[in-house]
Amino acid sequence: MSTGLVAGRLALVTGAGSGLGRAACQVLSREGATVIAADKNYDSVVETIKKHTALASGSNDTEHSAVELDVSDSSAVRNLVQTILKQYKSPPTIIVNSAGITRDNWLLKMSEEDYSLVQNVNLKGTFLVMQAFAKAMTEASLPGSIINISSIVAKYGNMGQTNYAGSKAGVIGMSQSAAKELGKFNIRVNAVLPGMIDTPIVKTVPEKVMQGMLRMVPLGRLGNPTEVAELITFLGSDKSSFITGASIDITGGW
Ligand SMILES: NC(=O)c1ccc[n+]([C@@H]2O[C@H](COP(=O)([O-])OP(=O)(O)OC[C@H]3O[C@@H](n4cnc5c(N)ncnc54)[C@H](O)[C@@H]3O)[C@@H](O)[C@H]2O)c1
Repeated sequence: MSTGLVAGRLALVTGAGSGLGRAACQVLSREGATVIAADKNYDSVVETIKKHTALASGSNDTEHSAVELDVSDSSAVRNLVQTILKQYKSPPTIIVNSAGITRDNWLLKMSEEDYSLVQNVNLKGTFLVMQAFAKAMTEASLPGSIINISSIVAKYGNMGQTNYAGSKAGVIGMSQSAAKELGKFNIRVNAVLPGMIDTPIVKTVPEKVMQGMLRMVPLGRLGNPTEVAELITFLGSDKSSFITGASIDITGGW
């Protein structure tokens, strides 16, 4: 019998092939969950399960699974619900929406295509996954916890990120609204707002800009993906049983 904060729970993590999603898989499995790692990049989630998740839980990797998923594709999301129900006989009750992209540019130069791409993955993708899996949980009469990864730029904005900040502000409003609707099913929905975390997504920030940003972080460093994953796992667990509709900053004080 496994022990841990989320022992015996089934968790779905999107964007699980890299960064925060991969770290969430590691910590959730360390804390006893069975993890379904989903990403547009299939090879990357196979690696998450083989190299990282199994090691973290100290078990073999047969219970965990890796799946290819484009979160912006509604039929792919619906199909995934059915595939999981067939394989595990029950829907996941921890959902982590970590799939996200940036297409930064100045407002005056941003193409409509880059605007739409970012909304489709970050906002619509989170909506589709949340809707499909909340439905599966209510149909199975199971309580659950949905954790949507927003960003601190949703609150304060950031130069070059009108599309991204808009999508992430949308994630907060959507999470708060869903929390109000799903509370009666004992399904909690929370948004996590990371600052600058050391993952491939921040590697695109020029060094000079990065140094300027770090000066605004009281703790004076980038966050580690595991630090965010610990918060995600807490929100997935019963330790956070009275927290819903919240937007939690994890920024080193930025
Ligand atoms: N790293 C940071 O500093 C930071 C700060 C604030 C918010 N965030 C948010 O955290 C989340 C995770 O970011 P990260 O730093 O791990 O980035 P990352 O680039 O390391 O990982 C993102 C993952 O999402 C996957 N992905 C992209 N489009 C997808 C799609 N359509 N369907 C499924 N998967 C898709 C990518 O393949 C990748 O594996 C994102 O939503 C990001 O916006 C990150």
